[in-house]
Amino acid sequence: MVKTKRRATPEHVAIIMDGNGRWAQARGKPRLFGHHAGAKRVREIVEACPEQGVKYLTIFAFSTENWKRTQAEVSGLMMLFKRYLTSETKRLVESGVRVRFIGDRIRLDDALVTLMDELELLTCDNDLVHLTVALNYGGRDEVARATKRLCREVSAGRVDPEEVDAETLAKFLDTYVLPDPDLVIRTSGEARISNFLLWQSAYSEYEFVETLWPDFSRDEFARVLANFGSRERRFGAVLG
Ligand code: IPE
Ligand code: IPE
Ligand code: MG
Repeated sequence: MVKTKRRATPEHVAIIMDGNGRWAQARGKPRLFGHHAGAKRVREIVEACPEQGVKYLTIFAFSTENWKRTQAEVSGLMMLFKRYLTSETKRLVESGVRVRFIGDRIRLDDALVTLMDELELLTCDNDLVHLTVALNYGGRDEVARATKRLCREVSAGRVDPEEVDAETLAKFLDTYVLPDPDLVIRTSGEARISNFLLWQSAYSEYEFVETLWPDFSRDEFARVLANFGSRERRFGAVLG
């Protein structure tokens, strides 16, 4: 059967939250001021998901390449993540949001990883919206880590290399429990993926919006979602 899909709302939306630094610069403030403003937006967009019919939201918070920024910015961001997770936990638990993290935790500090583990555990029975936060995440790094785990299974004799296909590898990705994103949004006018969900977004629709992330409102989110409804997705097939 030819798999095609036309759906009014995307089930899974992924967002590259970009433009915090420029937002701050435009106001003559340090970049971290923009990151704080950006973090405040997250709640609004998460809360908009159930009313918009979006079940899965995945947000790019920190990439494997973002370590190249100044030490002050990186440590400021790590502090912000810790503060944010601490202050949002209660609200997330009570509002039915299931939180997951993707990315490599190995380079993150213990206190942050503990907060991430706790939040995943505390929200594991929630099902209203599935929020996935990509933290120290890179698509290539994820595929490399998945390959390493798969190779271990092969060496242990538990996986036959002849049987390995795309579906096998996908089971080793950080996102193995999530559907692929239907729509990827990037704010701030940049039209690139920057190593986000490379494997998973093979057939996603893309929306690049000019708005800087700290200004990305619930209304603009709704407009982007409405635009998605008018697109025809073919998945490589010819529609009759
Ligand atoms: C996105 O905003 C947030 C992170 C990458 C952590 P930026 O910090 O990249 O903002 P711009 O692109 O410099 O404006
Ligand atoms: C992508 O934004 C990463 C996040 C939004 C967390 P960047 O600002 O790091 O991407 P580039 O450097 O413009 O490609
Ligand atoms: Mg940027």
